[in-house]
Amino acid sequence: LGGRFIGATANYIDERTSLSGFVKELGRKIFPDHWSFMLGEIALWAFVVVLLSGTFLTFFFQASMVETHYNGAFLPMRGIEMSAAMSSTLNISFDIRGGLLVRQMHHWAALVFVAGIGVHMLRVFFTGAFRKPRELNWVIGFILFILAMAEGFTGYSLPDDVLSGNGLRIIDGMVKGIPLIGTWTSFLLFGGEFPGTAIVGRLYTLHILLLPAILVGLLVVHLMLMVINKHTQFAGAGRTNSVVVGYPMMPVYMSKMGGFLFITFGVIVLIASLFTINPIWNYGPYDPSPVSAGTQPDWYIGFADGMLRLIPPGWEVVFLDRTWSFNILVPLGVIGIFIILVLIYPFIEAWVTGDKREHHIAQRPRNAATRTAIGAAGVTMYAVMWAAASSDIIATHFWLTMEGVIHTLQALLILGPIIAYFVTKRICIALQKKDREIALHGYESGRIVRLPGGEYIEVHQPVDEYERFKLADFDTYEPLVVRPNAKGRIPWHENFRASISRWFFEDRLTPVTQGELDAALAHQHHDLDHMAA
Ligand code: HEM
Ligand code: HEM
Repeated sequence: LGGRFIGATANYIDERTSLSGFVKELGRKIFPDHWSFMLGEIALWAFVVVLLSGTFLTFFFQASMVETHYNGAFLPMRGIEMSAAMSSTLNISFDIRGGLLVRQMHHWAALVFVAGIGVHMLRVFFTGAFRKPRELNWVIGFILFILAMAEGFTGYSLPDDVLSGNGLRIIDGMVKGIPLIGTWTSFLLFGGEFPGTAIVGRLYTLHILLLPAILVGLLVVHLMLMVINKHTQFAGAGRTNSVVVGYPMMPVYMSKMGGFLFITFGVIVLIASLFTINPIWNYGPYDPSPVSAGTQPDWYIGFADGMLRLIPPGWEVVFLDRTWSFNILVPLGVIGIFIILVLIYPFIEAWVTGDKREHHIAQRPRNAATRTAIGAAGVTMYAVMWAAASSDIIATHFWLTMEGVIHTLQALLILGPIIAYFVTKRICIALQKKDREIALHGYESGRIVRLPGGEYIEVHQPVDEYERFKLADFDTYEPLVVRPNAKGRIPWHENFRASISRWFFEDRLTPVTQGELDAALAHQHHDLDHMAA
């Protein structure tokens, strides 16, 4: 009976929408398989948990800064004056059935969500999956990342506890540090002098309405573009730029994805039930006077906090009757430039390589040594900024001086990325050499054989065809070649571009060619024949 009902319903809908062709098409679509393609999915399913748990919280959270006296179940806070926002968050935690679990699920899912996005983005970067035709999806993805951080920050600010308020005060300080418009902007934002009584309500509208709407909309575009562009695959036998090897969406991926949703959901519930997150009842309501030691934002905001701590204090001049606080403007500028560079990286690389082809084969990071080195430098810079957000904790835990920690991190902020760049590049090139060796001559077997003529050779285990596909980079990049224009001249900017291109491809090993492979195979047969003789 159930089957008949579903069939009839499907028929009813199809007669009115003609969707079945589309559904069949999508169902037959082949997706390639690799563990790292799961990272985007982790972000996706964590987002589902965020949406569900967030909706539950809206039923009980009061986005109001009206002063009340708390009188809920948590005795130590009884009678204390606080905002309705803080009081309702305490109620969610102690009086609403399942409230604390859902609140912790929301917070943990948010942390997993942003972490998932982060590693997903690194996967896309290091495999060159952002190259044509996926540049746009990189840009959309990165905007999703920024929106997620904005969601996290606005959410963190809602409960109106000491941590919330201190986070907002940093934002207020940064806004006020902008010359000319700073003070006015701060007043506009907070509806008067910080902290005012409006900010929680305003952030709430952003947190549950505007930002999620944009996030969901762009996410739909992101996934549609992923289907339209097709997913990249790693090199392998029979896999080319135009042939995808993998499993169909229906039923294989549908069941895998469904299963994965439940696993992600389950793991988040498990974490949320075992580990406390953001125990606002220990912090108390916001009051501008106390800042406890060890105060930290959620992990994904740490880099910005760290950057602020790394800039030397008192770095300001008075000019045109205004105070120019470089200790605010410089970190804002550094972070802004960092973000813009990441956002437009696919276009920068396309410009440098002059490559206009479509790429559907994911690269092994080692085969794009310069990109991988740039990525490692970026990750190192981010890591140092992030570590700086824990400067006080590092100092107290390891019995170091605060100045020592800060000065070391300041030096690392500059030197770390440079060291990471060169070390990574050398490692990549060494790995390329090793791959080349193995592709051409096979694995060393450790078996030494003496030939009749007295010559000793080591027998090499030939690699099979599948391995060889992985080891040889058939989809290669070439440095840009500039040709003189009609007047027989090369414009300076083309020369400049060509020199950056040469730098990008510097020390690159040329990939193994079919000719070399054939020659190597012939040689191996030759050795084997000798042994047989
Ligand atoms: C592919 C989800 C953010 C760039 C995918 C896939 C999923 C996904 C499920 C297919 C599976 C996979 O390759 O992992 C999401 C979600 C995001 C997000 C839920 C956050 C809300 C980002 C970010 C970037 C990005 C921050 C880069 C800056 C891409 C690209 C692809 C992709 C280029 C195609 C990859 C390929 O074909 O190999 N995304 N993503 N995404 N994503 Fe995202
Ligand atoms: C609070 C993050 C989306 C509703 C929070 C908090 C965080 C957060 C970190 C503080 C939780 C705490 O008290 O410890 C995020 C992120 C989101 C997101 C990263 C999306 C990517 C949503 C959505 C809704 C929502 C879509 C509503 C449908 C709420 C509510 C609170 C809250 C009502 C206040 C209650 C509370 O603090 O416990 N959010 N959230 N959130 N969020 Fe979200």
